[in-house]
Amino acid sequence: MSTFRSIKGVKDILPENMPRWNIVEDAAHRFARNYGFHEIRIPTFENTELYIRSIGGATDVVEKEMYTFPDRDGSARTLRPEGTAGVARAYIEHHLGESSHLQKLYYLGPMFRHERPQAGRFRQFHQFGVEAIGKSHPFVDVEIVDLLWNFFSSLDLPGLNLEMNSLGTLEERQEYKAQLLEFLTPLRDDLCGNCQRRLENNPLRVLDCKVITCRNITEKAPKLLDCLKTESSDHFQEVLTGLESLGIPYTLNHRLVRGLDYYSMTTFEVTSTSLGAQNTLVGGGRYDGLMKALGGPPTPAIGFAVGLDRVVLALPDSRIPPKSPLVFLASFGKKGFQAGMQILQQLRLAGIQADTDYQSTSLKNLLRSANRLGATHTLILGDDEVDSNHITLRNMETKVQENLPLDSIHLQLPNHLK
Ligand code: HAM
Repeated sequence: MSTFRSIKGVKDILPENMPRWNIVEDAAHRFARNYGFHEIRIPTFENTELYIRSIGGATDVVEKEMYTFPDRDGSARTLRPEGTAGVARAYIEHHLGESSHLQKLYYLGPMFRHERPQAGRFRQFHQFGVEAIGKSHPFVDVEIVDLLWNFFSSLDLPGLNLEMNSLGTLEERQEYKAQLLEFLTPLRDDLCGNCQRRLENNPLRVLDCKVITCRNITEKAPKLLDCLKTESSDHFQEVLTGLESLGIPYTLNHRLVRGLDYYSMTTFEVTSTSLGAQNTLVGGGRYDGLMKALGGPPTPAIGFAVGLDRVVLALPDSRIPPKSPLVFLASFGKKGFQAGMQILQQLRLAGIQADTDYQSTSLKNLLRSANRLGATHTLILGDDEVDSNHITLRNMETKVQENLPLDSIHLQLPNHLK
């Protein structure tokens, strides 16, 4: 065995798994386009400062999980841990806001976080993200969640639960933080070590701690929704009413605070009961303050990112389409071999998946190769067939054979592959 192995948490996606990925990625492109989003490709690495400024210096992602390296001139660069920061940078850099009041962008690609690998959690993983930049109207929020929900539903993902919350504005959050600290500080010693630290730099994260003692404590904590002023509260209510009018089921989760600092107002996640501990399929929300924080014009925005690796894991087998026909050409003999080259080309140009094996010379070995490749049909072409201008089509499952005219095989074959 080779001494080289892939890095822990960084996996190969082998051809046998690609049909699952193709279904999910095709649906992502289709839904994003149907909802008016345009694809954008952002770089895989950026200046480290972009992520610190966007995601926040006190978050797990920035503190512990970024793949950061000095470039050759010493500048700090980071492999993208997520896509929103890069899209926001591109939006500002290319003045994308000038061409349209609402820029709707989407992306697919690998992201990198140094997390402890486990089922559904990787160090290189893949996201499908959408970002709608330029409008604060609650219906934009509804549209984003509608896209997400229908994307998941089209894939028949089981046991979905959409959780909604509002983080309010920065000022409302600050007011809430003060209330939360007042509530938690006397209980500090009963919190887990992580939460004791969070109390100092990110007290909201105490709310989504999984440790049972912390959960029991925060059960009675003040709720952020109660700190929202009329405008934020109305916005959230309009979002929820919009979801109801579209028949999208949701639950309210006041613990949903998200792990990245740029969020404000509407936030949401979808989990699936078919996955283990890493059961969050998507996270998203508004980030109305991010553009300004990055030096751009104040611009409201909202988006989400789906963890594609998890969606692929949750995809039911019933969604994998039957294999499309694969025709194997078993040609032998001098004339058969010669004619075979042209037939193969004709079939491929006619849009038929076709392959052969140049090594085997006996029909027995050729049929064995056809089976190994998973061919659904085999075309048998020897010198006799060329002389009599016919070719034999064998159904590999039923083993039934029929003769077809050689010179128009590429035209006739599609009708015989059904
Ligand atoms: P996030 O919650 O950090 O949000 O990640 C979104 C999704 O990516 C998660 O729900 C999960 O499905 C997947 N994911 C995250 N880390 C891993 C991992 N180590 N292995 C496998 N899957 C993972 C964001 O990234 C935001 N940029 C989302 C967003 C876009 N908000 C607004 N616009």
